[in-house]
Amino acid sequence: ALQVATNVTEQKHHVSRDKRGQILGNLRGFRGCTVWFTGLSGAGKTSISFELEAYLISRGIPSYGLDGDNVRTGLNKDLGFSKEDREENIRRVAEVAKLFADSGVVALCSFVSPFAADREMARKIHKESDLPFFEVFVDTPLNVCEQRDVKGLYKKARQGSIKGFTGVDQAYEKPENPDLVVKTVNASVEESTMQVVEFLQEHDIIP
Ligand code: PPS
Ligand code: MG
Repeated sequence: ALQVATNVTEQKHHVSRDKRGQILGNLRGFRGCTVWFTGLSGAGKTSISFELEAYLISRGIPSYGLDGDNVRTGLNKDLGFSKEDREENIRRVAEVAKLFADSGVVALCSFVSPFAADREMARKIHKESDLPFFEVFVDTPLNVCEQRDVKGLYKKARQGSIKGFTGVDQAYEKPENPDLVVKTVNASVEESTMQVVEFLQEHDIIP
């Protein structure tokens, strides 16, 4: 079993959030927050998140996309897709996103994050540090994701060569109270992205 660290105390930074906000980006002001995209594999989380990242960066707003496929080849390469490993995946990513947000960056997280309790944990991690957290449900029906099958993973899951695939033989718990729902059927990536942009404007994250 892992030995848990004791005798650890929080160390306070010398730089305030306001100060960070004065320095970072072309549009001054602290804008640190986390936008959390959840949805089935193939729903469009990565596409929207990375399009939004490009949109924000082009306007001088620091932003960074943390994506499941990427994080799972690095920080979380020791984790698989069991319920326990998905929870740990989300916990670590939420902690990383919190640091990005605290630094003044708009952290964009695109993770299947199929379990409501794990998404609540991610929210709580931010709330405890007084940082805005927005859950965006990328609501694309399973049959559409499966028709797209961009990576051929649904095919493999149906054939049984991938076990525990979300929507096939593992659950996806739809968000009951997401901050925003983005439906991607009959919408372009740009249109879906603009829905999130408008949402961030309404919540005074961006002008
Ligand atoms: S989770 O549930 O949040 O921990 O998953 P995540 O870190 O987002 O990783 C999802 C990406 O991993 C690929 N993949 C799978 N997804 C779901 N279930 C299983 N069993 C699985 N195996 C591999 C897949 O490329 C996912 O990326 P997206 O972009 O969602 O398709
Ligand atoms: Mg993806």
